[in-house]
Amino acid sequence: MTTPNIDLFDEVVKFPNGEALARYADLVGLDDVKKRVTDYLHLVADPACIDNWAKKHHRNGVAFARGLTALPRLVIFGGDVGTGKTALGETLGAAVAKTEKIPVTLFRLSLRVRGTGIVGEMTKLLGDAFAEVRGFSADRKRGRGQASGLALLLVDEADALAQSRSALHMHHEDRAGVNALIRGIDDITTGQLPIAVILCTNRAEAIDPAVCRRAVETFVFRRPDLAKCLQVLKTALNGAMFSGAQLHDIAEAMGPRDGRDYGYTYSDILQRFVPQLVLGAASADVPITFTNARDLAMSMQPTPPFRGSGS
Ligand SMILES: Nc1ncnc2c1ncn2[C@@H]1O[C@H](COP(=O)(O)OP(=O)(O)OP(=O)(O)O)[C@@H](O)[C@H]1O
Ligand SMILES: [Mg+2]
Repeated sequence: MTTPNIDLFDEVVKFPNGEALARYADLVGLDDVKKRVTDYLHLVADPACIDNWAKKHHRNGVAFARGLTALPRLVIFGGDVGTGKTALGETLGAAVAKTEKIPVTLFRLSLRVRGTGIVGEMTKLLGDAFAEVRGFSADRKRGRGQASGLALLLVDEADALAQSRSALHMHHEDRAGVNALIRGIDDITTGQLPIAVILCTNRAEAIDPAVCRRAVETFVFRRPDLAKCLQVLKTALNGAMFSGAQLHDIAEAMGPRDGRDYGYTYSDILQRFVPQLVLGAASADVPITFTNARDLAMSMQPTPPFRGSGS
């Protein structure tokens, strides 16, 4: 079939990249996710490390180490809005390029691959996107040795593509899209190519079970608790010279309270609270004060969590 000429990727980003590495380091409260994902990507990029480990500790071989040779090529970033899923997906490559000392390329899949509704179009576009990343990576694989480059395929807002096929009223074209996504992931896993697919969604429960079961892990991202709120505020309001007790008061105002069972997201703090605080003070031509900051934290409403059906 002929399909309109649609860009398959929103952007293709190459790492190392110092700016992305700094953004990665600034992401708070994700140390455990960062460690586990980078450990996983180490195995994807350098499968021999598991062979070396098995040789050292289990000379007779272990069945599960053999299983790891078919390491799944998918991770899912699920959880609340504004908690760093996209930000981590976008910057992770910088950390991996640094630790693995290999180039990493991020392909950010465009949701335009959903197509225009023509039968078979989404299947073709998704297939083309996976084929392009596979083609890019084929000659970067070095058998069981360290790959000469790693590719990350970021599928943001993945529920738009990977929604459960059991959903009522699902269009057959969307079902076909999920099938194409599963096939794409399977091809990469079978070929054990140096590629990992990262799906981001705030509706992990809506993702097709067949997609979920292909993930090596589903990470759940959460809003900051009081300590993490404080950590973000300390950096963001660094120049305002607030005392520890003042910062604590501001952070507390951002938490769940007055019958509201959720507090600020990270993006509420950094992309709404801080800009409003700065703009308010700048437009009045006055310095930022504790009273202004606390009053704003009290009055600004946090973004409500996504509470879709089933969550
Ligand atoms: N854990 C975090 N630490 C520090 N800043 C964060 C964190 N999470 C999010 N932010 C800030 O909020 C911005 C938006 O976050 P991001 O787009 O990654 O959220 P998300 O989890 O993808 O949300 P959504 O589900 O709405 O897509 C980031 O660019 C960053 O500035
Ligand atoms: Mg996002």
